[in-house]
Amino acid sequence: MKILKWIGIVLGGIVLVLISVVTILFFISKQHENQVYHIDVPPLQIDYNSEELLQTGRHVATIRACVECHGDNLGGKIFIEDPVVGMLIATNLTDGPGGIGRDYSDEDFIRAIRHGVRKDGKSVIFMPSHEYNLIDSKDMAALIAYIRSKDPVDSRHLPKTKIALPFRAMYILGGGEIHLFPARLIDHSVSIPEPVAERSPRELGAYVATTCIGCHGDNYGGGPIPGVPPHWPQASNITTGGALADYSEESFFTTMRTGITPDGREMNPEFMPWSVFGFMTDEELSGLFDYLRSLPPRETGSR
Ligand code: HEC
Ligand code: HEC
Repeated sequence: MKILKWIGIVLGGIVLVLISVVTILFFISKQHENQVYHIDVPPLQIDYNSEELLQTGRHVATIRACVECHGDNLGGKIFIEDPVVGMLIATNLTDGPGGIGRDYSDEDFIRAIRHGVRKDGKSVIFMPSHEYNLIDSKDMAALIAYIRSKDPVDSRHLPKTKIALPFRAMYILGGGEIHLFPARLIDHSVSIPEPVAERSPRELGAYVATTCIGCHGDNYGGGPIPGVPPHWPQASNITTGGALADYSEESFFTTMRTGITPDGREMNPEFMPWSVFGFMTDEELSGLFDYLRSLPPRETGSR
C-alpha cells in the first residue's frame, strides 16, 4: 500500500508542476499581449478621389494578401479556427457596424499596418505587420484610400478572437518563432520608405517578396510554418537550393497564376495563396523570380 501512496504523491506532484508551468506561460503571453506601444506616425497626404490611387490600392491589397484574411470586401472574417490555435478574427476594416473605418484616422491605419499597433496601443494579434513594414508611402496611401472606398460591412455576427492555451504555450516555448504579437518584432524606428521612381526588376522583386517570408521564412528556405494548424503542408524551399532550381521564368509564372507546380502538384490556395499572387503584374512576377534566383541556395527547412 505504501508504494501506491508514493505513486500518488509523485503523480500529484507532476500534475502540480504542469499546472504551474502552464499558468506561468499563460501569464507571460498575457504580458506580451497587454504591452502598450507609443508610436508617433507622421501624417500622410492621401488623395482619396484619385482613381489611379484606388486602382493601386486594390492591387496592393490583393498581392499583399490583405483580402485573404480580411475578405474581398475587407469586412473581416474568421481566418483560423482550430482547437490548438484558437479562433483568430481578421478585423472588419470598413466603416460598417463592428468595423474600425469610422474610428481609425489615417495615422491609426498606418500604425496598425506597418507597426502592428492597434488604436488601443497593443500589438495586433497574428496580423503580419512585420511583412508590411517596408511598404512605401505611395502604396500605403493607396491602401488606405482603397480601404476607405469600400462599402460598409456589418460584422457584428463575428465572434471575438480567442487564443487557445496550447497556442500561447507554443508561442512562449517557441522563443518567438510564432509571430503572435508582431509589434514586438518590428523595428519601430524605421520611417516609412519614400516611393522609388524606378525600381530595377530585382529591386521590385525584393520589394514584393516580403509578403512571402511569413510562410517561407526570412531566407525563403521553407519548412513547417510556425503557428498554423498541423494539417497545413510545409512551405516549399523557394531558393535554388530547393524547388526553384527546377523553375524557368515561364513555369514560375504558371505556378504563381494557376497553383500548378512544374512537377504537376496542384496547390491549395488556402495554404499557398497563388489565387492572390497571380494578380501580380508581369513585371512584379518577373522581378520576384529574378530576386529569388539571386539568393544563396538554402537547405530545405532552414527558414
Ligand atoms: C494572415 C492574415 C492577415 C493578413 C494577410 C492581413 N491581416 Fe490585417 N489583421 C489580421 C488579424 C488577425 C487582425 C486582428 C488583430 C487583432 O485582433 O489584434 C488584423 C488587423 C488589422 C488592422 C488593425 C485592426 C485593429 O483591430 O486595430 C488593420 C488596419 C489591418 N489588419 C489591415 C491589413 C492590411 C492593409 C493588410 C494587407 C496589407 C492586412 N491587414 C493583411 C490578419 C491579417
Ligand atoms: C500563407 C502561406 C504562404 C505564403 C504567404 C506564400 N506561400 Fe508559397 N507556399 C506555401 C506552401 C504551404 C507551399 C507548399 C504547398 C504545397 O506543397 O501544396 C508553397 C509553395 C510555393 C511554391 C511551389 C514550390 C514547389 O514546391 O514547386 C512557390 C513557387 C511559392 N510557394 C512561391 C511563393 C512566393 C513567391 C510567395 C510570396 C509572393 C509565397 N509563395 C507566399 C505557403 C505560402
